[in-house]
Amino acid sequence: RQSLIIDCDPGVDDAVALMLAFGADELDLLAITTVGGNVPVEKTARNARMLRQIAGREDVPVWMGAHRPIRRKPSGAGVFHGDEGLGDLDPFEPTAPAADGHAAEAIVRLVMARPEKSVAMVVVGPMTNLALALRRTPGLAGRLGPVAVMGGARREAGNITASAEFNIWADPDAAAEVLAAGCDVVMFGLDATHEVRATEARIRRIEKLKSPKAAAAAAMMRYSQRIEREVVEGEAPPVHDPCPVAWLLKPELFELKRCRIQVETGSDLTRGHTAVEFRAGVAGSLPHRWAVSADAEGVFDLIAEKVA
Ligand code: BDR
Ligand code: CA
Repeated sequence: RQSLIIDCDPGVDDAVALMLAFGADELDLLAITTVGGNVPVEKTARNARMLRQIAGREDVPVWMGAHRPIRRKPSGAGVFHGDEGLGDLDPFEPTAPAADGHAAEAIVRLVMARPEKSVAMVVVGPMTNLALALRRTPGLAGRLGPVAVMGGARREAGNITASAEFNIWADPDAAAEVLAAGCDVVMFGLDATHEVRATEARIRRIEKLKSPKAAAAAAMMRYSQRIEREVVEGEAPPVHDPCPVAWLLKPELFELKRCRIQVETGSDLTRGHTAVEFRAGVAGSLPHRWAVSADAEGVFDLIAEKVA
């Protein structure tokens, strides 16, 4: 089984990613850590606790992490996720509390206590918690297994500005630090996640499954569909955050290319832009991987199988 820490900011698509992971026996979920992103960190931590309760997975500890980005003002994406973060799912106070201590501390402790490269991370919010963990313990980069990130855009335009995708834009300094730290980063940006869309047929298929995990995942997709129609004037919303989880479970669903990823931190106009270089001769070396495309039908088959 693959040991895994999921760092997230639920978030409607984070919620689908969590339901997928909760249903996958191949994963040993060591922790969910949360960060301020789509909504403030108190809410992302509560939402993670709500989601684990809905899924019957209170065995997975939840740690709350960074309130704010390393250098920038906190932002949010309530337009896409609702004020509470989980669309129109009514918030409730979960029974089980969050674990004591800061998420960054928990990440360091969990990874350093286990064999080298045995713990993978999925990061589907701003990368603040992992950046803080690496500052605390620089040796962490070499101990971590793959770090599968949802963030960035290359072929596709940005979704928060013309140049940038939200997670990287929200804390560009954290993303730049993680990418420079020597972690084995595999990045699922909009180039891949915009191919993975919740069409009406795909949402119906999950709705029919009836399990608590399926019902929650389907409700998140329905909410996104409404927002996609009202705000984006599109039809089928992209389902970003399940992609890195799906890759860990079934790597053949994605086409990856070796690259070097750098993040713009100097400019206001292009803040958080991901410069992805595939040419070794230009980049010097290619320490990262970039998702070029996704098998959307395969991702939804996997989600349906695991949330059922
Ligand atoms: C990313 O931004 C967030 O709003 C989503 O949860 C996802 O992680 C997509 O750009
Ligand atoms: Ca997210």
